[in-house]
Amino acid sequence: MTSDSSSSNVVEFRNVGKTYNSGRPDAFTAVTDVSFEIPDLPDKGEFISILGPSGCGKSTILRMIAGLEPQHPCTTGEVLVEGKPVFGPGPDRGMVFQDYTSFDNRSVLDNVAFGLECRGVSKIERHALAREWISKVGLDVDSDAAKYPHELSGGMRQRVAIARTLILRPRIILMDEPFGALDPHTRMQMQDLLVGLWNEVQATVFFVTHSIEESVYLGDRVFILSRSPGTLLHQIEVEPPNRPALEMQREEQFQQTVFRIRDILEELESGSHAASV
Ligand SMILES: Nc1ncnc2c1ncn2[C@@H]1O[C@H](COP(=O)(O)OP(=O)(O)O)[C@@H](O)[C@H]1O
Ligand SMILES: [Mg+2]
Repeated sequence: MTSDSSSSNVVEFRNVGKTYNSGRPDAFTAVTDVSFEIPDLPDKGEFISILGPSGCGKSTILRMIAGLEPQHPCTTGEVLVEGKPVFGPGPDRGMVFQDYTSFDNRSVLDNVAFGLECRGVSKIERHALAREWISKVGLDVDSDAAKYPHELSGGMRQRVAIARTLILRPRIILMDEPFGALDPHTRMQMQDLLVGLWNEVQATVFFVTHSIEESVYLGDRVFILSRSPGTLLHQIEVEPPNRPALEMQREEQFQQTVFRIRDILEELESGSHAASV
């Protein structure tokens, strides 16, 4: 592969492996030989959903892209962002976790403005932008901005987490089961919110989930990982989310894709390594 082709990829994995505690008796290989390319499309980021059995290395892969230790650095292969090896975290990559990651002692406004504060943006400017983002994620500026995280529902807290990340306009958004703790109704609302925001920010998104419906609805491509040590078994192209979640998820073609992926995952969970498309 030439360096020319890699520079046109937003993210590229070349035969990436990760062994924790390498060289020690408790060494453990979490992922092995993972390769993929996410091309840099003009004015559009791809949405990559990631599915796989528990413990197969989904979070490991996300955190290697983020450059977060101890997942970073990889043990074998290369993790490239914009054609360059990842050296650590950077402003081009933002992460949203399942656990609510807001600061308890900061108001919603100051939580959303936090990253800008770290970048030295003036108070007036960062509060103005934070208000904009609070409303973009569907919260009420007048009634919610002054609240503290303990006064918010789970869905509202994830809205804050999304606003906190997107206000920084990262090129790549890494989401690790962000809606895993939400009830089904709130979850669907959050999916639609995410689709709207994603169209606006045009970022490349990596989205780990246990929900097959969610992965098929949100994704342009669905990555399916094998059982531990995880490797990339399938990349399935799916229809983009160009209509509301409730509507699209009722359609027959959608259901068929879900069933096909469920069969693959069930085969993996039950221990057969023969699963192939
Ligand atoms: N810091 C670590 N040290 C040792 N083993 C780890 C560490 N982090 C994760 N693992 C192991 O690596 C495997 C993959 O973990 P993870 O990426 O969190 O999986 P997933 O997100 O798919 O559930 C698991 O078996 C986990 O126990
Ligand atoms: Mg995980």
